[in-house]
Amino acid sequence: MEAIRWTEDRLELLDQTRLPHEEIWNTYHAAAEVAAAIRDMKVRGAPAIGTSGAFGVAMEAHRFAGDASIRERVREAISTLRTARPTAVNLNWAMDRMEEVIAQTSDDALLPAKLYAKALQIAEDDVRINRAIGDVGASLFGDHVRILTHCNTGSLATTGYGTALGVIRSLHAQGQLAHVYADETRPYLQGARLTAFELLHEGIPFDIITDSMAGHLMQRGMVDAVVVGADRVARNGDTANKIGTYALAVLAGYHDIPFYVAAPVSTLDLATTSGVDIPIEERNSDEVTQIFGQQIAPVGATALHPAFDVTPGRLITGIITEHGVARYPYEHSLAQHVKGEKSE
Ligand code: MRU
Repeated sequence: MEAIRWTEDRLELLDQTRLPHEEIWNTYHAAAEVAAAIRDMKVRGAPAIGTSGAFGVAMEAHRFAGDASIRERVREAISTLRTARPTAVNLNWAMDRMEEVIAQTSDDALLPAKLYAKALQIAEDDVRINRAIGDVGASLFGDHVRILTHCNTGSLATTGYGTALGVIRSLHAQGQLAHVYADETRPYLQGARLTAFELLHEGIPFDIITDSMAGHLMQRGMVDAVVVGADRVARNGDTANKIGTYALAVLAGYHDIPFYVAAPVSTLDLATTSGVDIPIEERNSDEVTQIFGQQIAPVGATALHPAFDVTPGRLITGIITEHGVARYPYEHSLAQHVKGEKSE
């Protein structure tokens, strides 16, 4: 399954607001359009917005090839894209990589090819890294494992394969997986719409549960481990992920169930000391009071919509990256992963 396609002069995104009922591909030719698609969650998931943003910058360079203003235009594109969504650090990480290319390229004529090459590298690396995360994660478990997951962390949320869903995919491929419980993930229903779509497509056995059912399943001994993705991991291991993740970690801790985060190094933000410094996106309350545009709350009712929460590092059993499993206390182990040193 793929959700992002590219050429030098255009980006195609599978519209994730329309899934699972309609598979509609939209074509983009300018960085501002890509920023809007990210903001509107037509593409979502931390690594996927990083990759899309990178191609957005490359396209802008292609659009202004030969123009005296090309350098200024791509820098503007980077600023616009950086602000599209605030929590997932992968978008900023990708924009930093694009800025490095601009700084290293003194000849304006070379910018389109160099920026496209970097975007391609980000995309290809992401798939390779996700497969490595899948293998590391699968090695943590025995046979007949039952995994509970939250939100969507699969091919739709990345350039391919997935992070937490990549671990699930690898477990399935190796015959270790008994069952997946996919939180529906209110309010945007990434679990019920997108994770279920991917699991069906892969033939992986699963049930959707409402977010409020997780505690009950854990109490009944139906969950062996929780594996989730991340939008930003602070230096001390505090992890921002889809709203509802923190409650799952507390429940898992109470029931003595391992709680793992699976994320690429590009999601680690060592410049952010702890979770209190992670910006939490507040989205429109209509996304809570309506489903697919259908009003479900009384007209006039107000709603809150923090889109992410922060799970304290001490509640996380391990953070799985492409370099191994980082363990609490995280300051040292995460720094090792960022340096590319293997652990465990
Ligand atoms: O608001 P979303 O759908 O972009 O949130 C996505 C998540 O929270 C994912 O768990 C996270 O980005 C990891 S995706 C591999």
